[in-house]
Amino acid sequence: MSDKTSSQLWTGRFTEATDAFVEQFTASEHFDRRLYQHDIRGSIAHARMLTKVGVLTEDERDAIIKGLEEILVEIERGDFAWLPELEDVHMNIEKRLTDRIGDAGKKLHTGRSRNDQVATDIRLYLRDSIALIRQELIRFQKGLVELAEREADTIMPGFTHLQVAQPITFGHHMLAWYEMLVRDQGRLEDCAKRMNIMPLGSAALAGTSFPIDRDFTAAELGFDAPSNNSLDAVSDRDFAIEFSAAAAITLTHLSRMAEEMIIWASPLTGFIELPDRFCTGSSIMPQKKNPDVAEIVRGKTARVNGQLMALLTLMKSQPLAYNRDNQEDKEPLFDTIDTLRNCLHAFADMVPALTVNRKTTYEAARKGFATATDLADYLVRKGVPFRDAHEIVGRSVRYGVEQGKDLSEMSLEELRQFSDVIAADVHDVLTLEGSVGARDHFGGTAPAQVRLQVKRAKERLNQLA
Ligand code: ARG
Repeated sequence: MSDKTSSQLWTGRFTEATDAFVEQFTASEHFDRRLYQHDIRGSIAHARMLTKVGVLTEDERDAIIKGLEEILVEIERGDFAWLPELEDVHMNIEKRLTDRIGDAGKKLHTGRSRNDQVATDIRLYLRDSIALIRQELIRFQKGLVELAEREADTIMPGFTHLQVAQPITFGHHMLAWYEMLVRDQGRLEDCAKRMNIMPLGSAALAGTSFPIDRDFTAAELGFDAPSNNSLDAVSDRDFAIEFSAAAAITLTHLSRMAEEMIIWASPLTGFIELPDRFCTGSSIMPQKKNPDVAEIVRGKTARVNGQLMALLTLMKSQPLAYNRDNQEDKEPLFDTIDTLRNCLHAFADMVPALTVNRKTTYEAARKGFATATDLADYLVRKGVPFRDAHEIVGRSVRYGVEQGKDLSEMSLEELRQFSDVIAADVHDVLTLEGSVGARDHFGGTAPAQVRLQVKRAKERLNQLA
């Protein structure tokens, strides 16, 4: 027995100490210590429940709670000695508790296993993390809605295939981003709801022989209910996968916004100006102002997508119930939480602070024959079948390319070369203002519709908790 390390909590059946490399290799305390608050919260609820059902005395419970609260302070002060030989956050805290309060500490693990403990801790941690992420998501939405309102009348080219397609309003474009985030928020909330089920009481896999009160513990910890099946509760990490999938979709959205801002901030388009405080310079080229924040967000999407794949692959084919593989869930999950939160934070600060070069966006729309569809629609209203109208306008555009003139710059005589149904009222539809203003139906790009959607969005955002 003398060759065994004494600090480990499970050495009873072993005849030799753990290999030193294996001890390092299997330890998780250096990353799962992040769960300390939630581990302590879970232990306090468990101790209260054990007292309620008569497994612990009130004195034991009080000693445990006081001890755990002191450990919490120790950890937060940075005075806690984390030991890799104690493997993980759970055993580090439990051992410290026993060192501080003696035998009562040794009773805390009654009717519990690290398997249900860790499954509970991660859910509690993720629940709090989702609440913080949700706040950033809402802050970003509010910023976008304000920007949309400010730029409700600003005309820019809308693109398909990154070719000028039709004029749109900048506000309408910002509200497209807003809609993506509304759905992202819904996915996060769905995930938080489905996840809010308590594993404690499942113990290692089969439940426990103690007369536990799981409803009590669930209520203490703010879970909606105890889990229905102990094997499922300790082993599945689908909630972490679901969160990661929601995060990957959100980051994918952010990467699209990032890409657009990078294009718009480039001198090639010059549509927007990003505030200097969100850009960096070049060490060699004095003229450079680089949109690094947007580029980094675009780049971060790669790791979040990768971590989703890691978690899916981790879970794939795992037999019931708990397997140590699941210790590998934490680093990808934690990194996804941090990355998502930071990216949302960055964009919530930066995007509403961008300025639009309204003249430039207007000119870009004017130069791109963006009102060609409007001319075709005009001809249709005068009785020309749409396919013929398409052909007529195509010829007018070819003439415009040759002459270096936009449709709106052509005289009535020039336009009438292509169709004699064209009359003086044509110029109303060929202006950019006329074009966006005409798309005045629910969901359209007209400034009036942008203002309507801004109003709806503000009402929605004001109602959110
Ligand atoms: N550190 C482990 C994890 O993260 C805790 C559970 C360990 N359970 C066990 N029986 N070894 O999954």
